[in-house]
Amino acid sequence: MSTYHIKHLEEYFHVYRKSVRDAETFWAEIAEEHFLWRKKWQQVLSWDFTKPEVKWFEGAQLNITENCIDRHLTSRPHKTAILFEPNDPKDDAQHITYKQLYERVNKFANVLKERGIKKGDRVCIYLPMIPELAVSVLACARIGAIHSVVFAGFSATALATRINDSSCKMVITSDGSYRGAKTIDLKGIVDEALNECKSVESVLVAQRIHSDITMKDGRDTWLQPLLDAASTICEPEVMDAEDPLFILYTSGSTGQPKGMVHTTAGYMVYAAYTFKNVFQYQEDDVYWCTADIGWITGHSYIVYGPLANGATTVMFEGVPSYPDFGRFWQLVAKHKVNQFYTAPTAIRALAKQGLEVVEPYDLSSLKVLGTVGEPINEEAWHWYNDNIGKKKSPIVDTWWQTETGGIMISPIPFSTPTKPTYATLPMPGIQPALMNENGQEIKGNQVEGRLCIKFPWPSMARTIWGNHQRYKDTYFSAFENKYFTGDGALRDEVGYYRITGRVDDVIIVSGHNLGTAPIEDAINEHPAVAESAIVGFPHDIKGNALYGYVTFKDTGESRDHTNVRTEINQLITERIGPIAKLDKIQFTKGLPKTRSGKIMRRILRKIAHKDTSNLGDTSTLLNPEVVQSIIDNAL
Ligand code: WTA
Repeated sequence: MSTYHIKHLEEYFHVYRKSVRDAETFWAEIAEEHFLWRKKWQQVLSWDFTKPEVKWFEGAQLNITENCIDRHLTSRPHKTAILFEPNDPKDDAQHITYKQLYERVNKFANVLKERGIKKGDRVCIYLPMIPELAVSVLACARIGAIHSVVFAGFSATALATRINDSSCKMVITSDGSYRGAKTIDLKGIVDEALNECKSVESVLVAQRIHSDITMKDGRDTWLQPLLDAASTICEPEVMDAEDPLFILYTSGSTGQPKGMVHTTAGYMVYAAYTFKNVFQYQEDDVYWCTADIGWITGHSYIVYGPLANGATTVMFEGVPSYPDFGRFWQLVAKHKVNQFYTAPTAIRALAKQGLEVVEPYDLSSLKVLGTVGEPINEEAWHWYNDNIGKKKSPIVDTWWQTETGGIMISPIPFSTPTKPTYATLPMPGIQPALMNENGQEIKGNQVEGRLCIKFPWPSMARTIWGNHQRYKDTYFSAFENKYFTGDGALRDEVGYYRITGRVDDVIIVSGHNLGTAPIEDAINEHPAVAESAIVGFPHDIKGNALYGYVTFKDTGESRDHTNVRTEINQLITERIGPIAKLDKIQFTKGLPKTRSGKIMRRILRKIAHKDTSNLGDTSTLLNPEVVQSIIDNAL
């Protein structure tokens, strides 16, 4: 029985039991049989959640790019590794073979070295979804530089915060990007950000939109001539298992984003293993994940997981609505996509367009459909199942996080019977626990609680860059000896998990995690604003939208609410990015507060949900009278 590739339900249960009974043997076998090591480990696992400290495959040496690229050069050199589909449907797709990817990554790696980048240096990558993005990620990994990809929809301020947090030495960007019919001036955003960043010595610029940009002397260089001159051979840096591979930022409960640090060996093993099983990838399949490489989904399931399995992975530069809402389905038909992985928000937006944009396309190549990023509602699940999968392709509702590095709870297609809105069963090696508010584990089925994980898995983030204490406080302090996910979940009568949503102050809007604190900080910068509080409310397409309650400074002036609303959203766009704009802004005289001065978000959330019949206990409020006036003026 193969441990690496699960093919039916009994096998899943068998493998799962083994992974719990003897986690070390389980992971050691997978690591040994399916990856290329320069040196074997001395110890499979050591861990202590109280510190917290977790190490996998200690003593082992490897380079992840040898696993993702070099080892395929003999078995599948001319197979397409990356299938790039440009924004404009009139432009040709590019098939980058494993051999070509090898050459491109090595050239890029040599350019990085020539520019003084060494093992352990941080390199910020701020690029659109073009091949250079995947290539630069892999080039960093080739030489042991730590990549920090920042989603190219973040603003200059957000970019600067991330560059400074990990003192990046270099930024890799492009002259601009295409987004449907629009272009975005990425280089301009980088220039603005770098006014605030002292650590950056050089900027490499890929040419994409041929716009007229300014290049700063001594700092900025066009990428292509350097690549043209570089050698196609670059010996991979030999990395220790626990050497950092990348940093990826995620929102938290303060304005400062958390730089999650992922290390090399465990991340590789887990991303590859879950890719194989969750998507049931077969050698000639074409796999497409629509995420951006700026998010963890793109890291693990566009780049590392698929390439470690020698897969063909599609990289799409554009948006689902350009040139029309049939684009995804047109591309599935064009490239005969076998596995398609997207977000509930995209499914909802596409479902709204009606079947006219689906029906023209032959979707018969599809075998597995995936979703990720937020709970999928029942209606969207059925639409996806009926109209895209034609009831033949199982839907894998994959629950996981930036912090977990890989998929944690998901059906295994053709093995686990699916159930709408349920992520179903834990992956082998994953030991979930539901906890009550008193910190006790809730055993048995048909229960609901806070979702924790009680045993380490190979791809868990090891720390927050530069702030281990925050890592401990955020994830390992709420429940003793357990990793706390920040999500709520329920377990049904057969033990299937359903994720019910965040239980902290992160709100997921269109699949993007947004912390309330950084948005409130941006609003509070408005000169007229005294205080603000953000909550989520249900939205047809975005899943959640943002509702802001804002109080004015008491200056006696009258204010034009429409203008202030626009200005607030401008501030948010500048500080964070357009994804964090508010749908509703209510101006109010006060915010409900406890006697210790904490804003009672629970009440504001209920008002935003138009659910004011039972506001719970308001007796502890300092100012109960504001509640009625907020309800009376609710939007
Ligand atoms: C949410 C994305 C329900 C959850 C990979 C989690 C989900 C957060 C699902 C992490 C799902 C992700 N069902 N909720 N299938 N997948 N989430 O870090 O709240 O961008 O904690 O990682 O998204 O978002 P992140």
